[in-house]
Amino acid sequence: MPKLHEVYRELFHIGAAVNPMSLITQKDLLSQHFNSVTAENEMKFERVQPEEGRYTFEKADQLVAFAMENNMAVRGHTLVWHNQTPDWVFENHSGGRADRETLLTRMKSHIDEVVGRYKGSIYAWDVVNEAVSDSGEQILRKSKWLDMIGEDFIAKAFEYAHKADPDALLFYNDYNESVPEKREKIYTLVKSLIEQGVPIHGVGLQAHWNLLHPTLDHIREAIERYASLGMKLHITEMDVSLFAHEDKRTDLTAPTEEMLELQAERYAQFFRLFKEYSDHITSVTFWGAADDYTWLDHFPVRNRKNWPFLFDTQHNPKASYWDVIDAVQS
Ligand code: G3I
Repeated sequence: MPKLHEVYRELFHIGAAVNPMSLITQKDLLSQHFNSVTAENEMKFERVQPEEGRYTFEKADQLVAFAMENNMAVRGHTLVWHNQTPDWVFENHSGGRADRETLLTRMKSHIDEVVGRYKGSIYAWDVVNEAVSDSGEQILRKSKWLDMIGEDFIAKAFEYAHKADPDALLFYNDYNESVPEKREKIYTLVKSLIEQGVPIHGVGLQAHWNLLHPTLDHIREAIERYASLGMKLHITEMDVSLFAHEDKRTDLTAPTEEMLELQAERYAQFFRLFKEYSDHITSVTFWGAADDYTWLDHFPVRNRKNWPFLFDTQHNPKASYWDVIDAVQS
């Protein structure tokens, strides 16, 4: 069976998000088909610095060691996010609200410590994650980072990350990246960072897609728009859910043939598109590796199984896998 990462070697990295459990249960699949990994949770703020100054790198270190042993690249995820960041970060020592300077100092120490530790082994970082709002006039979503530092929290994060590792590629990463309204906001944000001279090198398109959305045209338009900024593009968290957002069905115990065929068709279209833009797209990472484990089993409906990847629950290749392999020729 062809190895995914070998088939796509000339075009881009093929990555998977991993966690301490999947590093064991999906070990063989990961080392065979993927040449890049991302920590699903283990490098997030709450995991590496749960209390001020107490860093817990054990699981992140294990992931990086796994990547080194298997000759894989590592994408770092993520430094500044409104989610999975402990409360202490935003509080002063008497439990009140921290001031701007304190928060910036904490952001800088965190970035120095985390990026510095993996200097030379993590080649790209999602520096700021999901800072753009999904609806309304405002470009930036409401968050404690925005509220307590101001709009320049984004520029600061990139500057600190660049100082900590001048060789690392620095990304702004977001979801709903192909929805025209949000795409324009992301474009405007990144353009303004570039104009300010902020060290940003790429845009991460999370690519949490499904059988119907987004349309191929919207994805193409998004890729073109971000590429027009001269940025590198990484597909950072790809999965193709079998359920549209509004589909709250819970009665399916296995995917239907029809769903799997449609999924394969979608994956083939996506990979043909990525290939077309491979001057810009240098990495395609799935948010998992095989259907035995996905965050979508708990989102948006708790305990509803989903089957979003190229490999099934037994790690056997699905129609999607074969169509992605074929897509490289077309
Ligand atoms: O580890 C605890 C466990 O001890 C506890 O018993 C259990 C009870 O719910 O929770 C476990 O933590 C969960 C964690 O995943 C590990 O499984 C958290 O509740 C849960 O919220 C967390 O979800 C993660 C989510 O980010 C948090 O926002 C998902 O695994 C992870 O896949 C997801 O990843 C995000 C990206 O970072 C950013 N883009 C969207 C993407 C999908 O939501």
